Amino acid sequence: MFTDADAAALYDLLNPWDPTRHPSDAFFNELVMAADAVLDVGCGTGSMLHQARELGHRGRLVGLDPDLAALDRARRRTDIEWVAGVAADAAWDREFDLATMASNAFQCLVSDEELSTSLAAIRRALRDGGRFVFDTRNPRVHAWEEWNPSNATEVVDGAGRTLRVAHHVESLVGGVVTFTETTSADDGAVLRVDRASLRFLDVPTLGMFLNEAGFEVEAHYGGWRHEPVSDASRSIVTIARRV
Ligand SMILES: C[S@@+](CC[C@H](N)C(=O)[O-])C[C@H]1O[C@@H](n2cnc3c(N)ncnc32)[C@H](O)[C@@H]1O
Repeated sequence: MFTDADAAALYDLLNPWDPTRHPSDAFFNELVMAADAVLDVGCGTGSMLHQARELGHRGRLVGLDPDLAALDRARRRTDIEWVAGVAADAAWDREFDLATMASNAFQCLVSDEELSTSLAAIRRALRDGGRFVFDTRNPRVHAWEEWNPSNATEVVDGAGRTLRVAHHVESLVGGVVTFTETTSADDGAVLRVDRASLRFLDVPTLGMFLNEAGFEVEAHYGGWRHEPVSDASRSIVTIARRV
C-alpha cells in the first residue's frame, strides 16, 4: 500500500527545500522574502512558503496546487493560504507583487492553450509591474536522457522502508516528454506507477508565450547566480514583469 500521502512525503524526502545545498532554493527564498504578497503556483507540499514564514516573512503567502495530497502536507502550516487548483484557475485580481513556479512546475503546463490560459490568470493575479519568476529545464541539455532505470534513486522513508524510484521515458513528441515514475519496495514489488508529461521550451518560445500573455521578459538566466543562458545551461530561469 503506497498512498498519495506517502507519495507526497516521498517527494519531500527526495526534494528537501534547502538553500544551503541548492542555489535554486536560495534564489527563490531571496525573491520571496523581498516581496510583500506572494502567489506560489504549483506549490506542491508548500516547502518554499513554509520556509518563508520560518525566515520571518510577515506578508501574504498563498500556495496553489491541484495535488490534494501535496496540499494536505502544505496545510501543516495554517498561517499560509492554501488553494486547490491549477494555474489557469487562479482567480485573484491584482493582489500579488510576486508569482512563482519553482522546481520546474512550469513544465507541467503542456498544451499551448494551458500555457496561455495559465499565464493570463497569473498575470491577472499580479499587481501592475508585479513579477512572475520560474525555472524550466533547458531543452538543449536533453535532461530526459538521464531519466532511465539505471539512474534509479534509493531512499529510506519515514516508516523505515527502503524505496527505489525509477524513471522511464515513454515518448518525446514536439518538446513534450512523457515518462513514468515507478516506486518499488526493496524486494522489487512495484508500489506505485505515476505517469506525467513535461514540456521543454526554449528561450524564444518562452518569450513568445509571455509576450502574448502581457508580460515583458526582464531576464533569462542560465543559472542561479545570474549566469547567461548557454546551450550547456541545465536551467532557464525567467523573470517576467506584468505590463
Ligand atoms: C515538481 S513539483 C514542484 C512543487 C514545488 N513548487 C516545489 O518547489 O517543490 C510540480 C508541481 O506542479 C503541480 N502542477 C501540475 N500541474 C499544474 C498546473 N496546471 N497548475 C499548477 N500546478 C500544477 C504539481 O501538482 C506539482 O505539485
